[in-house]
Amino acid sequence: MENEKTTIENLRKQFADVFGDGGDVRVYFAPGRVNLIGEHTDYNGGHVFPCALTIGTYAVARKRDDRKLRMYSVNFPQSGVIESSLDGLSYRAEDGWTNYPKGVLWAAAERGFAADRGLDILYCGTIPNSSGLSSSASIEVLTGEILRDMFGFTYNGITNAKIGQRAENAFIGVNCGIMDQFAIAMGKKDHAIFLDTATLAYEYAPIAMDGVKIVIMNTNHKRGLGESKYNERRAECEEALAEMQTAAAIPSLGALTEAEFEAMADAIASPVRRRRAKHAVYENRRTIRAVEALKQGDLAEFGRLMNESHVSLRDDYEVTGRELDTLVEAAWKVPGVIGARMTGAGFGGCAVCLVKEENVEQLIREVGEQYERTIGYPATFYVVEIGDGPGRLG
Ligand code: GLA
Repeated sequence: MENEKTTIENLRKQFADVFGDGGDVRVYFAPGRVNLIGEHTDYNGGHVFPCALTIGTYAVARKRDDRKLRMYSVNFPQSGVIESSLDGLSYRAEDGWTNYPKGVLWAAAERGFAADRGLDILYCGTIPNSSGLSSSASIEVLTGEILRDMFGFTYNGITNAKIGQRAENAFIGVNCGIMDQFAIAMGKKDHAIFLDTATLAYEYAPIAMDGVKIVIMNTNHKRGLGESKYNERRAECEEALAEMQTAAAIPSLGALTEAEFEAMADAIASPVRRRRAKHAVYENRRTIRAVEALKQGDLAEFGRLMNESHVSLRDDYEVTGRELDTLVEAAWKVPGVIGARMTGAGFGGCAVCLVKEENVEQLIREVGEQYERTIGYPATFYVVEIGDGPGRLG
């Protein structure tokens, strides 16, 4: 791991440059995530199937003798060191990206895990920002990991994920589900996580796809989750569920089969909300079926369901947009492509593609050309590996 050693040394050097030498300085990492299938199901009590990536966020941290928080990001050097305090933690626009780690300190304290001393922390992310690969959840889970290790807190990975989600919901104001933080906090090398968001029961599924690569295709169309239609979609689903609940006792959209949904769909007054709910129900069933196909070694069926997922997100849920559709529809035409779909919240960000190893270069070339011709600027491609959850590196 010569590479990792160099990375750690470099990070320590940068930390010393910003915050000075000495003391108990520790280095940590948390991954980003990509979701293979099960999109916009996690706040509907459905299933998801994400995995952690080997790209993510590094941090170097040291306790302080006072209650100050001083944070610096290698990704936002122009912001310099942003200072706040453990006392009166609250969202402040001028604190920029540090609202994410501050939110975690706040949410951890709310659960009884209050840091009693301030911290100096340097962050360094290798996930492109606003790409839909969960750079913010990565920072959140990483911060939870730092607190756990530095202050000897006893919470497990699932609690760490819940702290991150709470920070996102109540501190940042994005009404996200648990998928991103869970996938990151519980990540396992070469495995995807089949998670039932209604119960948090989960199962690791080995992703051993001989001769097949996971390629992430970035639209480079920036997406702000908060400003996006994410919260609106969630509200539409909640309203549709409430309408159906006037007809029958249903705990969540994720609890329904397709047939049960179709039998009751008339209870939803608006055709738009009916389509939103339909996606949530069908996508959940697709996810269950896709994992089953993978277990049977039927990768072709898994890919077909990925494609179906994209169509549903495009036509019924309407969260793809021109950039993502261009990428995915171009990928479908390339030989060796097993499946391709948008991943994450949508509205820009990234798509994920399973492709035979020998066709990776062709995919990048042909989709790249088509995308730039249609959209006017280039897409970016990453051939990724599935990595482990968060931890201390040194
Ligand atoms: C974002 C949210 C997740 C999930 C996805 C859509 O990534 O943070 O909770 O809802 O969108 O599947």
